[in-house]
Amino acid sequence: MAENLKVLRELLNLALDKHGDWRKNVFDDESIYEASIEASPSFQEEIQHLRQSFGEFLERIQSSVPYFHPRYAAQMLKDPAITAILGYVAVMLANPNNHAYEGGPVTTEMEMEVVSDLMKLVGFDSGWGHLASGGSLANLEALWAVRDFRKPGKVVFSKGSHYSWKRICSILRIDGVEEIDVDRSYRIDLDRLETVLRKGDVMLVAANLGTTGCGSVDSLTDILALREKYGFHLHVDAAYGGYFKTTIIGEKGDVLPYDENTIPLKEFVYESLIALSEADSITIDPHKHGLVSYGAGCVIYRDERLRDVILNTAPYTYHKTDKPNLGMFSLEGSRPGASAAACWLTHKVIPLNSAGFGAIISECIRTAATFYERLSESSALIGLSRPDLDICCFFHRGDGKSLKSMNAATLNIYRELSIENPKAPFILSKFVIDRSTARRMLPSVEIDDEHFTTLRAVFMKHWMLMGKENYLDKLIDALNRLQ
Ligand SMILES: Cc1ncc(COP(=O)(O)O)c(C=O)c1O
Repeated sequence: MAENLKVLRELLNLALDKHGDWRKNVFDDESIYEASIEASPSFQEEIQHLRQSFGEFLERIQSSVPYFHPRYAAQMLKDPAITAILGYVAVMLANPNNHAYEGGPVTTEMEMEVVSDLMKLVGFDSGWGHLASGGSLANLEALWAVRDFRKPGKVVFSKGSHYSWKRICSILRIDGVEEIDVDRSYRIDLDRLETVLRKGDVMLVAANLGTTGCGSVDSLTDILALREKYGFHLHVDAAYGGYFKTTIIGEKGDVLPYDENTIPLKEFVYESLIALSEADSITIDPHKHGLVSYGAGCVIYRDERLRDVILNTAPYTYHKTDKPNLGMFSLEGSRPGASAAACWLTHKVIPLNSAGFGAIISECIRTAATFYERLSESSALIGLSRPDLDICCFFHRGDGKSLKSMNAATLNIYRELSIENPKAPFILSKFVIDRSTARRMLPSVEIDDEHFTTLRAVFMKHWMLMGKENYLDKLIDALNRLQ
């Protein structure tokens, strides 16, 4: 509710003042500045034009969707923490570029510290990584490095995987791509995975620690056992789910033992979060559950040799050889130092443990779990599966017999509770499931439609359960009115 505006304003002003002082100190030749310019009519005219345009601009940006509000639960849009805004703005005023050390010495070091926080979080003792503009780019780079490091082979991922994987395989001209079916919880089907692995030609398996569609977590412990047997590079796409590990980390950095009264997750998800430390590479995005603004993805590798296969240099940059030049070992070129700064300040203020990020994320998990429970009070709405993380998909049972009737009733709700309705009291999205998966998920329903349409609620706002009349109750009321 903008209740922290006062402190934000105070600290933003501090950043502006500090930056102003810095500039004044660096520009020591005062003859460059002519005070008379400020009084000139043309200068005044230009400033007037700036004020007017900025006023119009501020009006225009408010016509967008209020992503910060709990009634927006359609996509993975998280309100950035104050630390992210401060860190980003304070650094962006000078605009460093983290592609090379010389372009951003301080923010390159911050980036390495952020990456080392994340490596510690997932349980890597050594390795290497860097920030990226987002999860898609992080995944792309990981597969690029693996393709050039290992002997050629297939890339395998589940039907629940982010759409970037197919695109990435096409960009990298991967010959064999296997998309594995999911089980009823939308996790990779392990039997089918093993059938593919038995052929002995798999180079990389991309497992999900939190699918984009419904937040399902693949069983990493089982996949690790398969890696032991068949040998492949295990990449975990934890772009969305990686920060959930903070819920099981104690204040001393220790992994908390599983206890269903204190750990907000299912034991199965807990085990997968622990197993992250055994992955070969991981995508984990600060700009999803890391409370920072776009674009901040991150890729980390356990084996540093994966860095060398993608080494690129250039005759006009990377001159400092005794310092890290992140761009030499990454796909992207220019990247904002401001993004690294936003992550750094956020990690510094909000610890990566159950008292910091974990406390915030626990509320999101609790919201999704409560929502799923509350669905059982309804005779018409059914949860797709008990949420592993903080996304819950659900559908209307229609006449209970045919998929067509279920989809029609579900879509009626969607039209009211989505961006299609400018006055929607809540904004949800859809999660569309293919026919063959639908057949397995709904064994007693006649599959007489092309797709199975479900509603998707992403409970990334951690204050849904707060207040006397909380927003989750309001969402349930809205759904009850539409059934
Ligand atoms: C599991 C997963 N992987 C990858 C991505 C892609 O990340 P980005 O949109 O930052 O490129 C997403 C985005 O939602 C995701 O959920």
